[in-house]
Amino acid sequence: MARYGWSAYPGAVPGPVGAPADGDLRPELADVGRLARRGLRAVVGAARAAERPRLSRILNDHLGAGASTLEVVEETWPGYDHVNVQAGLDAWLAAPGRTWELVGVTNFQHAMFGLGDLVAAGDGVHDPYGLSPGNPATVNLASGPDGEVRACLRCGIYLVTEGEVRTALLLRGATPEFGTNNASVQLVSTDPEAALRSAAAIRAATLEHNVFRGQVLSFGQEVFGHGQTLLQFHRRPVMTADQLILAPETLAEVRRQVVEVARHKERLLAAGQHLKRGLLLYGPPGVGKTHTVRYLTSSLVGTTVLQLTGNALHLIAEACSVARALQPAMLIIEDVDLIAEDRGMHPGQHPLLFQLLNEMDGLAEDADVVFVLTTNRADLLEPALAARPGRVDQAVALELPDAAGRRALFALYRGDLRVDTSGLDDVIARTEGVTASFLKELLRRAALLAATRTADGEELAVSAADLSGALDELLDTRNAMTRTLLGSTPA
Ligand SMILES: Nc1ncnc2c1ncn2[C@@H]1O[C@H](COP(=O)(O)OP(=O)(O)O)[C@@H](O)[C@H]1O
Ligand SMILES: [Mg+2]
Repeated sequence: MARYGWSAYPGAVPGPVGAPADGDLRPELADVGRLARRGLRAVVGAARAAERPRLSRILNDHLGAGASTLEVVEETWPGYDHVNVQAGLDAWLAAPGRTWELVGVTNFQHAMFGLGDLVAAGDGVHDPYGLSPGNPATVNLASGPDGEVRACLRCGIYLVTEGEVRTALLLRGATPEFGTNNASVQLVSTDPEAALRSAAAIRAATLEHNVFRGQVLSFGQEVFGHGQTLLQFHRRPVMTADQLILAPETLAEVRRQVVEVARHKERLLAAGQHLKRGLLLYGPPGVGKTHTVRYLTSSLVGTTVLQLTGNALHLIAEACSVARALQPAMLIIEDVDLIAEDRGMHPGQHPLLFQLLNEMDGLAEDADVVFVLTTNRADLLEPALAARPGRVDQAVALELPDAAGRRALFALYRGDLRVDTSGLDDVIARTEGVTASFLKELLRRAALLAATRTADGEELAVSAADLSGALDELLDTRNAMTRTLLGSTPA
């Protein structure tokens, strides 16, 4: 079908998909309008682009003539320190005598660029990589355990003035998805000495205002984040000494090595004694190694606690450097036997355990850092520890609770529960060789039996029969696997 003349809907004309029929190439009224609008947009756009200051212009205006000859000073941090860099920078910027203005940088994600590139782009040349000034883009980064966050600039330029001295400072967070794993600060200043001094001051402020200090953190690998290291905040557990049932001399040993050294550190240092120390907690599963670590974490308020977990054990060196920077610190590596034989990420590397021991060795003697290692398999570790003596200065065996311990555990896990204890002696006798977690489970089961036996709404009261019934169940051969899970294989 041939159509002639103007049409308001040229697309309505049926024809081959994607290519207009010959007849459709005639100019139509709507095309004229479109063309005119496009022309206008191009003219206005060009005019406004010339008006809008570019980053290079802004920088050169701030720094004055000769800006492109000034040296760029750079400081970098691991990506997870971005939040600390922002905290340090905010404090540095707030110092008296310093005024500043912030310029956001847009389109920064894909670009590898430095402050030098921006300054050197000079006037009359387009900014490199399509970067342009814009609203500062921020990202909320964790700064505390209860969802506290701090807005951190992803990429932006601070124009700083201190009397006569003018400084431009480029802050960039890590963008691992684009291959930038570090957070960085670059500085250019009209006074080169001031640039160096400011860089050092910002590094110091970043450490001073470090939001990780005194917190409980775990070192892990960001699962979806391109192998980035992740430091996660945890709420410090609250636990009292009576919630940890250990033989008194065992608890005293642990406390002396961890808590007492910290408490008396001034006097110990003055007497030429070292503070760096290592504690190995060993014993069968379920006797309270993790529980003891939790207790230590709760009692060392103000100490930075770093937990290294399974998938992050190759980050030992990094964790040690954070511990050193944020001391007093406690570095916890649980189930260290799991890494005894592991050879880390790279072929030819020492087993991770040796790396750990070397890192422990490398740390200054006067660093108030305590390493707490736990294991079920001291036998596996012994050769490695014996081959590198002095790193772990105390090994404490956590043992299966004796009768008195089992009584205490019974009382602890009974709590406010009403229990008929007429058969308790028998229960204590029959639980020879079980772990603390077994006794905890015993009380839970007894309570469950009582609950199923009685009506809803009735106050829970565990009878002697509930208690012995629960114990029979747990000791039954059918529950061999359950017992293993509780770490218990009673005689
Ligand atoms: N000594 C103990 N005192 C009080 N409770 C304990 C003790 N040991 C273990 N428990 C209880 O058993 C649970 C499991 O113990 P856990 O510390 O994980 O054992 P481990 O790390 O030695 O395998 C703990 O969460 C705690 O509730
Ligand atoms: Mg454990």
